[in-house]
Amino acid sequence: MQRIGVLTSGGDAPGMNATLRAVVKAGTYHNLEVLGIEAGYIGLLEKRYRKLEILDVEEIVSYGGTIIKTGRTKEFQSETGFKKALANIKNLELDGLVVIGGNGSMKGAQKLVDAGVKVIGVPGTIDNDITGTDYAIGFDTACNIVTETVDRILDTATSLVGDTPRVFVIEVMGRHSGEIAMNSTLAGSVDGLLIPELEIDYDEVADNLKRKFEIGKNYGIILMAEGVGKVDDISRELEMRLGYKIRETLLGHQQRGGRPTFFDRVLASKLGAEAVNQLVKGENAKMVGVRNNVVEAVDLEVVNSEQKSFNDKNYELTKMICY
Ligand code: F6P
Repeated sequence: MQRIGVLTSGGDAPGMNATLRAVVKAGTYHNLEVLGIEAGYIGLLEKRYRKLEILDVEEIVSYGGTIIKTGRTKEFQSETGFKKALANIKNLELDGLVVIGGNGSMKGAQKLVDAGVKVIGVPGTIDNDITGTDYAIGFDTACNIVTETVDRILDTATSLVGDTPRVFVIEVMGRHSGEIAMNSTLAGSVDGLLIPELEIDYDEVADNLKRKFEIGKNYGIILMAEGVGKVDDISRELEMRLGYKIRETLLGHQQRGGRPTFFDRVLASKLGAEAVNQLVKGENAKMVGVRNNVVEAVDLEVVNSEQKSFNDKNYELTKMICY
């Protein structure tokens, strides 16, 4: 093995740069040349790449985003596009590829494996919705941003007193996954949670708030994942039940930016280095992840065939914290 490629694909996640640093450092340690493929699978289609050396990555551990860019492309799925990508991989003489990204990226990795390319995946998505790892890179940073937002809203919620309770609804990311919303609820002063994995029970959320108002609380904070609907629609439903005007916050892409946390940097560093170790050992078609605090490699087929199971226990505990 002499030359490997690395790409970041799909939604960027804080910690992707830390992962790149680890891949390049581990690659150099193993005497490998590392090519950074630009803009995810787009870079494979368009043969956009640059050589990454120690000095290119020495300082990026603390940077958000990804220095080699990321991307989403439909062309990679088409027969002609895919053939082009394969020809470029051959032309670049890549002996292996590290793919950093979320669920869509792992599916792309599997497609390459099926066509004979040696690939190791690394889970990088703020959504934390990938099977085979307890945590994906970027999730912790995103949750910290949400937690800080909840703290800030709490400051104003607890300070301004009016004739009626003040209720705030905050929409956070997660089209198909409530992981960010649920875990941030545990970390902050939150009174209600709405996530796409479960049917919405507006009455339950409203009743919980009313009970709190009865015992003297004069504000409420609700967290909702984007997958449950639009923040205005959700707010209207709650307003109808509560009779109070609701204040809305749509957090958006702030959750994807900024410096990665300590946790994400450590996770990224371990997984990036292990991905290279796996390739050097001759492994293929795996994704590296962390389970019960142990770095492990799991079959990409398993990652791609199973939806990450919903953590019922976590939800049960979260509901008690909202109570
Ligand atoms: O997959 C990460 C993610 O941030 C999701 O939480 C969100 O639904 C989506 O990407 C947003 O994508 P875009 O940046 O294309 O709006």
